[in-house]
Amino acid sequence: ENNNESVDNRLLEVCNLLQETISYYDWVGFYFKNGDKEELKLGPYAGEPTDHTIIPFGKGICGQVAVSNENFVVPDVAAQDNYIACSITVKAEIVVPLFLNGENIGQIDIDSNTPDPFTEADERFLEFVNQKVSQIL
Ligand code: SME
Repeated sequence: ENNNESVDNRLLEVCNLLQETISYYDWVGFYFKNGDKEELKLGPYAGEPTDHTIIPFGKGICGQVAVSNENFVVPDVAAQDNYIACSITVKAEIVVPLFLNGENIGQIDIDSNTPDPFTEADERFLEFVNQKVSQIL
């Protein structure tokens, strides 16, 4: 899964489209389970490069979602104690798990420079995006 150039190109297009068209989506990326390891690995993304290309399960918002299998909406990142900062401009984050055949294999992660921008509509929309993405993996 996701170990091929054409899939990565299509995922990159998804990231670029979301980041360019939704004003409060400032960084958009996919993380995927790294083989058999209990960690996430950064896949295609749009926005500033991040140092956090590997995230252990349980660490940060992303690592927590890898374990919980549930959406995580963070209206104010400063209020989170288990949070990995990628950029000081980020105010809010949403992470939605990506399932393939019922298994949590990764996630879409979005950072916003706008405080508290994410609604249930974003959750439903990103669940839809992930469902579509799972069909091309
Ligand atoms: N903030 C994330 C780390 C990934 S960066 O947002 C790209 C977290 O706490 O898991």
